[in-house]
Amino acid sequence: MKLARTRAELQAALAGAARPLGLVPTMGWLHDGHRSLIERSRRENRATVVSIFVNPRQFGSSEDLARYPRDEARDLAICAAEGVDIVFAPPVEEVYPAGFDTTVSVGAIARPLEGAARPGHFDGVATVVAVLFGLVRAERAYFGQKDAQQVMVIRRMALDLAMATEVLSCPTVREPDGLALSSRNVRLSPEQRAAATVLHRALVAARTLHERGEASGDALRGEMRRVLATEPLARTEYVSCADARTLLELERVEGPALLSLAVLFGTVRLIDNEPLG
Ligand code: PAJ
Repeated sequence: MKLARTRAELQAALAGAARPLGLVPTMGWLHDGHRSLIERSRRENRATVVSIFVNPRQFGSSEDLARYPRDEARDLAICAAEGVDIVFAPPVEEVYPAGFDTTVSVGAIARPLEGAARPGHFDGVATVVAVLFGLVRAERAYFGQKDAQQVMVIRRMALDLAMATEVLSCPTVREPDGLALSSRNVRLSPEQRAAATVLHRALVAARTLHERGEASGDALRGEMRRVLATEPLARTEYVSCADARTLLELERVEGPALLSLAVLFGTVRLIDNEPLG
């Protein structure tokens, strides 16, 4: 496995890499969710690049950049064990050199949900992913359905800017009790960790209601709120029952939809989602 710290080292490593090439962008603290993306890339390509970069531009000023968990030695060991060919783990100034002055800003699909809750977040995500796509020029890049809106934003960007990398989405990997794996889970206290199963329970309750014939968006959003309210440690930020293509809130579910939610446990913010239909 080659470790590249700079753009130049990355280009040198890529020169010898087999094709097609798969890219898995991450912010590190790798877990089985990331592993599933790496495994899929390994299956579908002849070489795999993993990037490890905690991107300051996608964190708001009051957000958890400083508290974001980091353990590069462990991440590198996981990548080596997974058969990754190249790890790109640059310092900030290598991604955003002096003079860097471009922001990639995706439109309507980036506005609701996470876009509304975290102003500027998707500009930061789209900008860093555009840099990574430009540097790696992979045939394919892999993202998790756990961050469903993120995949939609990146897909829109790649299509609109005629990027040569195909954007692929992989299923959410969960703990046995339903909690979606997330690097942020380590910051939960044992009590919060136990309470955090409420995200998936709320989604499953609303999905079950829908399967029994309930099509009202308000009823499905209400069901998620009701389940979340049973957990005193959980503070609901939003619940959503939206059109799966536009992410706009639905009055009635008549085609593909996405249930999603954001919940705070103390200062730890968790998101999850579940497709309908
Ligand atoms: P990060 O949170 O490290 O996630 C990296 C990738 O792993 C994302 O595509 C995310 O959706 C996926 N992922 C996270 N948890 C998952 C799970 N439980 N199951 C399946 N996939 C999961 O998302 C980011 O980093 C950043 O925004 C990034 C795209 C790297 C840009 O900085």
